[in-house]
Amino acid sequence: MKHGNIIIKNAAQLVTCSGFSAKKGREMSNLSVIENGTVIVSGGIITYVGKDANCPPLSDFPNHEIIDATGKAVLPGFVDSHTHFIFGGYREEEFSWRMRGDSYMSIMERGGGIHNTMTATRNASFDELKNSGRKRLNSMLAMGVTTVEGKSGYGMDKATELKQLEVMKSLNEEHAVDIVSTFMGAHATPTEYKGRENDFLDYMIEKVMPEVKEKKLAECCDIFCEKNVFDIEQSRRYLTAARDLGFKLKIHADEIVTLGGAELGAELKALSADHLLQASDKGIGDLAESGVVATLLPCTAFSLKEHYARGRYMIDSGCAVALATDLNPGSSFTNSIPLLFALACIYMQLSPEEALTALTINGAAAVGKADKIGSIDIGKQGDLVILEYPSYKFLPYHIGMNIVEKVIKKGQLISR
Ligand code: NIG
Ligand code: FE
Repeated sequence: MKHGNIIIKNAAQLVTCSGFSAKKGREMSNLSVIENGTVIVSGGIITYVGKDANCPPLSDFPNHEIIDATGKAVLPGFVDSHTHFIFGGYREEEFSWRMRGDSYMSIMERGGGIHNTMTATRNASFDELKNSGRKRLNSMLAMGVTTVEGKSGYGMDKATELKQLEVMKSLNEEHAVDIVSTFMGAHATPTEYKGRENDFLDYMIEKVMPEVKEKKLAECCDIFCEKNVFDIEQSRRYLTAARDLGFKLKIHADEIVTLGGAELGAELKALSADHLLQASDKGIGDLAESGVVATLLPCTAFSLKEHYARGRYMIDSGCAVALATDLNPGSSFTNSIPLLFALACIYMQLSPEEALTALTINGAAAVGKADKIGSIDIGKQGDLVILEYPSYKFLPYHIGMNIVEKVIKKGQLISR
């Protein structure tokens, strides 16, 4: 997309979230807020951040659109660092079953769950996936998301895994939201490999992963490390092969049972270990020490009626915590940023400051891009959000409401 020129002045709060790497523990509370602030974006890149009073004369910046943000807070664009937004079909029946008492894993074990979406995704055309994906990106953008991570993993065969990743590549070229793609061939074992998990992993490692790399279709690689899905040893093997090919690593870790996925994420220096509802004290300590981002997905816990990950404890232990929606048709059919903020603050005891750090600079770190996005710093991409209220504190407080008034992507005013 075109790189724009824009000046936003008189911001009641310019919430910079300043930084070029993940913030850990207590650092997460420091948002570096400038009152009565101006930000200037030239050619898509931030060139000035500071007080209105110190700003160079605006006449020095011809061809810049000017926005008056009096009474409004200006923030970095949000980074939703964990989603599965390209999928075929829906699972509304399974939602009813879960509300009646069936567990997520019991539905998966009888052929539903991820397998249900796998069949629908294999059957969906490129254009069907692209059209539904575009609608979801539009909705994300309206809620202030300027970068999203998207995973494959509903193919579990070469053709469909590549199809999902190619859909994301094509959407990335046309849509304002930047997409960071993750190959997640090891999301579950497909029916044709039932009982032969290791053979399936061999197939993914030998036949699919190298082609994904060669075609430059994904930057990261992820696995569902879980009891009755892929164990620690299998996850280590798959992720090590991915690392050897040059992928950055992510891991679905300790979601349903305590398996040691957090420890494995730390050992392998993954970008992030995600879910962590059942992460042990040792696993949390390892994440804090290694600096691997702990990505928490409270919308999933809410939707599955599970208890929440120990976000407060993780931050107090020195972890870098990120927040993401986990948008997918099963465990979290939502890309709602307002819901995410409310759940993180109300049920995981994050402060509004910590939640905002988790969704900006730490989300950027969780996709390996903290040097380019996630904060309002000179030299970073001009991805910004303007709220209709004067303070970021309205984000969790105005529960479930979208208070994003304008979104700027690479210096271009996009919405509303
Ligand atoms: O992150 N836990 C595994 N994968 C997804 C859910 C995928 C699905 O149910 O379709 C998750 O929750
Ligand atoms: Fe997920």
